[in-house]
Amino acid sequence: MTDETSAKGLEGVVVAQTQLSYVDGQIGKLVYHGYPIEALARNASFEEVAYLLWHKKLPNKTELAALEEALKENRALDDDLVGIMSCLPKDAHPMGVLRTAVSALGASDPEQEDPSPEANLRKAIRLTACFPTVVAAWGRIREGEAVVEPRDDLGHAANFMWMLHGEEASEDAVRAVDAYLVMLADHGMNASTFSARVTTGTQGDMYSAITTACGTLKGPLHGGANEKVMQMLLEVESLDKAEAWFEQARAEGRRLMGIGHRVYKVEDPRATVLRDMSRDIAETSGDGKWLDIALRIEGLARADQYFIERNLYANVDFYSAVALYAVGIPIDMFTPLFAMSRVAGWTAHVMEQWANNRLIRPRGDYVGPQDQAWVPLDERD
Ligand code: SDX
Repeated sequence: MTDETSAKGLEGVVVAQTQLSYVDGQIGKLVYHGYPIEALARNASFEEVAYLLWHKKLPNKTELAALEEALKENRALDDDLVGIMSCLPKDAHPMGVLRTAVSALGASDPEQEDPSPEANLRKAIRLTACFPTVVAAWGRIREGEAVVEPRDDLGHAANFMWMLHGEEASEDAVRAVDAYLVMLADHGMNASTFSARVTTGTQGDMYSAITTACGTLKGPLHGGANEKVMQMLLEVESLDKAEAWFEQARAEGRRLMGIGHRVYKVEDPRATVLRDMSRDIAETSGDGKWLDIALRIEGLARADQYFIERNLYANVDFYSAVALYAVGIPIDMFTPLFAMSRVAGWTAHVMEQWANNRLIRPRGDYVGPQDQAWVPLDERD
């Protein structure tokens, strides 16, 4: 009989061994298979990180070239999928569209039910390759514009910006998006990754697992926070209004989006990199308005006893919002960009779960009544 482990929200409960990423919330450390996130953000492309997560090693030149080729071959969407997306309401949330597209992709994949490592890797590549195309295509379809086809001469991040805007983005913007994709690719047993593992635990197929993960990420307490952070900064409106806004938010007991974390009790190391990245973007563009407001709100929180006592610091979503907004990503596409990155980690966790699987089935602590006597319908109040 296992010991009675009861933790609300499974806080602190270990559900699997993993070699993919390690998060130390006490010292603010994140590594992907041993490589510190700071070094990966500075040096790696998203393609290299995807390979690292899937194969547990950084690719050599030949391996990287082969992955880049495989991603290119899987980027384009078939007409049926574009047709399905075109039937959706134009005001549908992009994360809901992405979730729908993953299901549709699974339905049309002859390998959907094949759980072999080889087939699952091919599905991981397919999904990672076409997430940006789905997100960018929706950005066009909802505006009544023609879908922009991916190009073979552009890398993963550059292609996304090309397909979204119909023109090539600046090198700085591409580098910022690539670094963002690197930093959000994996993060231990976070809610959406765990949900993908739960689906895999029943031997559900990879598309079902990634559909689950998309639905889980969409929530504002998780991947949906970045969009809420930008809406919060727009609500503050200007630097001179920040203090009054903060006092009002505190008085109303509002949760500040982008602040706090289940694991980090010091600053999220990704927030540190993203704050610096936002500074660089602001310096280059000459527009630091939203960064200044974010820095002010963060400073007010860090000086507030309520936040200090609870170890509430900026998390990855706080400065993600500033950086993504600065490079022209529509606010409701922030979480889809998070998914474009995390799909590499999700698929890696799905493959890791298949390799050493057991049904994930916790217990509930039943606190309802017992031995209720039946009451016929005409005798009930
Ligand atoms: C991500 O898990 C991961 O790894 C996730 C992620 C990843 O890469 O996958 O890092 C990505 O999801 C980042 C988090 C994004 N979410 C937000 O920014 C939403 C705002 N943050 C909070 O809702 C909250 O901090 C959570 C959800 C992130 C964590 O919540 P917990 O661990 O369940 O903590 P809790 O809700 O029990 O809060 C503890 C206390 C409470 O106060 P008291 O009951 O002690 O009085 O802290 C307070 C909370 O009210 N609190 C906040 C707060 N976050 C927690 N108060 C105000 N503002 C906040 N943001």
